[in-house]
Amino acid sequence: MALFRIVYVSEATGSVGSGLMPLIDIIGVSEQNNRRDHLTGVLMRHDGRFLQVLEGARADLNRVMARLSRDRRHENLRIVSDQSVPERLFPNWAMARLETTPEAEAFMASDLMQHDAAAHADRVLAGLVEGMADAV
Ligand SMILES: Cc1cc2nc3c(=O)[nH]c(=O)nc-3n(C[C@H](O)[C@H](O)[C@H](O)COP(=O)(O)O)c2cc1C
Repeated sequence: MALFRIVYVSEATGSVGSGLMPLIDIIGVSEQNNRRDHLTGVLMRHDGRFLQVLEGARADLNRVMARLSRDRRHENLRIVSDQSVPERLFPNWAMARLETTPEAEAFMASDLMQHDAAAHADRVLAGLVEGMADAV
């Protein structure tokens, strides 16, 4: 089965940008749906922005992206990277909330329309995965 990875950044609307409850709600539903759809990934929030990584089969990704684009809890969703990948970066997580790193925060605040945003995202993700390995 071909595997794809999407990275997007969006802007939280209203109170969704702060406080724990909106995040807990989002993660709860996401875990349940993503387990059903064999999707994995992580979600970060910083300074009113979301960065999410979603990995899985094309049809499942297309369906969740359609739901995400209708969700009023965020707006201005910009796909930074959408590529075919050999394996999952987050095989064990249907959806996990990650603390941001300084690199991830800088990326979320950067001009995402720059030509190398996808490569920049890849470097940020590699750093996150490395950090997780160190923490184990
Ligand atoms: C930042 C953010 C991330 C989300 N991530 C996911 C996700 O990974 N999987 C998922 O099924 N829904 C996710 N959702 C929720 C969906 O937008 C949607 O509310 C949910 O899938 C239920 O859709 P439905 O009401 O059309 O059934 C996310 C929402 C937000 C705001």
